[in-house]
Amino acid sequence: MKFFGKKQKGLDTNSMGNGVYLVTVDKPTSVNTEQFNTIRTNITFSSVDKAYKSLMVTSTVASEGKSTIATNIAATYAKQGLKTLLIDADLRRPTVRSTFNISDSKGLTNLLTEPGFDVNDIIYETTVKNLYVMPSGPIPPNPSELIGSKRMKSLGKPLNEAFDLVIYDAPPVTTVTDAQLLSTQVNGTILVVRQDKTEKSVCREAVKLIEHVGGHIIGVILNDVPSSASGYYGYYSKD
Ligand SMILES: Nc1ncnc2c1ncn2[C@@H]1O[C@H](COP(=O)(O)OP(=O)(O)OP(=O)(O)O)[C@@H](O)[C@H]1O
Ligand SMILES: [Mg+2]
Repeated sequence: MKFFGKKQKGLDTNSMGNGVYLVTVDKPTSVNTEQFNTIRTNITFSSVDKAYKSLMVTSTVASEGKSTIATNIAATYAKQGLKTLLIDADLRRPTVRSTFNISDSKGLTNLLTEPGFDVNDIIYETTVKNLYVMPSGPIPPNPSELIGSKRMKSLGKPLNEAFDLVIYDAPPVTTVTDAQLLSTQVNGTILVVRQDKTEKSVCREAVKLIEHVGGHIIGVILNDVPSSASGYYGYYSKD
């Protein structure tokens, strides 16, 4: 698969079936990996007093690169030595299971629906040192209800204690309420905007939706920027 090829139009199902491309692991000396290192540095510097324990990655609409970016940011922190957990909180269009070739179908939805389920059973070690993942589990009929459940809320604290950093890959913010709900449970939200794909007004709407519920947007990542500009990924702090 050619990764940085032609831009696809409409809803992309490739990453759901094949997983996302872990450029930071596959090509550790590439420009893209360096860009993810810069993104990590910017995230770290944007929290002045206390290091972030939990971050959520979302976008305005589908297929803007959330999963690619969430996964590569998680790998970047893990490679730095932080014990990192990537949670597939996109219960509608999950990718983590395919990205990390996990044969077991168990995941977050099992934990949220089956009483007595042990969280340790759905945290998988990966081939990337310090990187752990929690797949979404089977796609449920009621994702928003599960994401907004008490069980989901109570999951945050113990995970923040067990890991140095927890990163949530969330659905887009303007179509369903999941990301809004999650944004109130994490220290910071990163908004991915795909160059040439996202309308300014929709971006503004996304920021409003997160801020309306008290979520904290720490920055915007501009994805798929032509290489003649500043590369494929750019990070802009909101403040
Ligand atoms: N910078 C980039 N250059 C080229 N292709 C990219 C880039 N970022 C993402 N893609 C491709 O775009 C598609 C969508 O990416 P990804 O699955 O990460 O987005 P998403 O926002 O998580 O989508 P979804 O809404 O399905 O969750 C994938 O095929 C991915 O490989
Ligand atoms: Mg995704």
